[in-house]
Amino acid sequence: MLTKQVQLKVLIFGLFLISLGLTIKPISSWAGDDSISSAFEKDDARARELFISIIPVLKHPRCLNCHATGDYPRQGDDSHIHTQNVKRGVAGRGKYSQKCSACHQEQNITGLNTPPGAPGWHLPPSSMPMIWEGKTPGEICRQIKDPKQNNGKTVAQIVEHVIVDKVVLGGWNPGEGRTLPPMAHDEFASRFQEWARYGAACPQ
Ligand code: HEC
Ligand code: HEC
Repeated sequence: MLTKQVQLKVLIFGLFLISLGLTIKPISSWAGDDSISSAFEKDDARARELFISIIPVLKHPRCLNCHATGDYPRQGDDSHIHTQNVKRGVAGRGKYSQKCSACHQEQNITGLNTPPGAPGWHLPPSSMPMIWEGKTPGEICRQIKDPKQNNGKTVAQIVEHVIVDKVVLGGWNPGEGRTLPPMAHDEFASRFQEWARYGAACPQ
């Protein structure tokens, strides 16, 4: 009699667990559509969409002014050629006495039309100029992923660069009178990171 009661309790508890399982399952598969559980699955269409969505940041003057064509940096929202005959130089740090560090400090200088600053302020080197100007999203994406054109970095290292690099972050603290890129840094960085997690596929 006692054992039968115990058996019954076990059975009821078992049924309870099964029904719990059935209740939880639809919830987790619903969550799986969009978030946590599928975040690491490869999804080329999703990755391409995410990459295209961050292009307005990459093409914004705060970024493009160092990632533009030519042997010189650019200035301002119209991306005009940097004044005072400043040139890229082999290492991207300027030529002769016009070294970037002669004017650009580790932080911004207060006031209008003063040089913005961040540690390591310079252009990509002439052998690997990382130019985005005039390129399609697909071309930019393939270039960013190519270790021969990105200074030997993995996708994970590029993601980290975008999250922590002081020059990148400086785009959102650009000094007086300069406009900001069209989305918050957090949003930009998380879209970039998701692009990598979904498999880092490039648009056509
Ligand atoms: C002062 C110049 C400068 C500015 C402004 C600048 N960058 Fe860069 N960027 C560089 C340099 C130099 C490198 C190369 C770094 C290296 O090789 O470690 C680079 C590399 C990168 C890379 C990775 C490499 C690749 O293959 O393209 C990304 C992504 C990047 N920058 C994003 C940005 C974003 C986003 C902004 C604007 C918010 C920005 N950068 C603004 C100078 C700049
Ligand atoms: C003689 C001083 C001087 C030198 C040398 C110099 N800069 Fe500048 N730079 C400035 C000043 C001043 C500004 C701000 C101009 C303004 O806002 O009107 C500026 C602005 C810029 C901007 C525009 C920032 C933005 O967000 O619009 C970039 C990019 C830049 N410099 C990159 C460089 C790089 C890279 C080097 C070295 C290759 C360099 N500069 C060398 C003085 C200098």
